[in-house]
Amino acid sequence: MIYQIQFDSPENRLLILESHSPIYAPKRYRNEFGQFLESSPYCERDLKLPTFMAPKEEKGAFTIKIKKEGLLHEVVYATHPFDVVGWDGYLFPYAFNIHNFEPITGRIHQPPPVHQTFEGRNFVVCSFCPRLYDYHPQAVPAPYNHSNIDSDEVLYYVEGDFMSRNDIDQGYITLHPGGIPHGPHPGRWKGALGKKVRKSLR
Ligand SMILES: [Fe+2]
Repeated sequence: MIYQIQFDSPENRLLILESHSPIYAPKRYRNEFGQFLESSPYCERDLKLPTFMAPKEEKGAFTIKIKKEGLLHEVVYATHPFDVVGWDGYLFPYAFNIHNFEPITGRIHQPPPVHQTFEGRNFVVCSFCPRLYDYHPQAVPAPYNHSNIDSDEVLYYVEGDFMSRNDIDQGYITLHPGGIPHGPHPGRWKGALGKKVRKSLR
């Protein structure tokens, strides 16, 4: 799928994930026919599809960059690549705005899979969105210490104030390698007591 990203302003931050395997919505969000369930945090109506535009009939030198086996190759077309008059097939781009993700909340701390957005063959993408904190009167909203024995955790901090970490700002990335126990920074679990709403997105 040849694509080009156009921005409205030069102020942009991009985190790009690429996968060798197809990326799906988690299976447990969908029924046996693939349709999203009502209990899913997002569904078909949240997916934005492309608007077909008139073909560009231009001649010149148009560079296409192709990534294969980790290397970027350049192919120069003599005609504008966006010259198609129609499209069919099931290789289809779509956009999902994370502000349309409806977080699953609970009286006690919910396990990380409730934040799952996408999955591939050997990875998942989770979105920790602004949401109501755990609402049992004695709940400790900060996550508990844990260790993932078979996966690494990469966190990208989009915006807001993240409860369990000190000295984290917008655009930061942290890595928790598999097998290493980790949890809230010192003092953070106490500060989380009694907090009602999370305002950050990561
Ligand atoms: Fe973790």
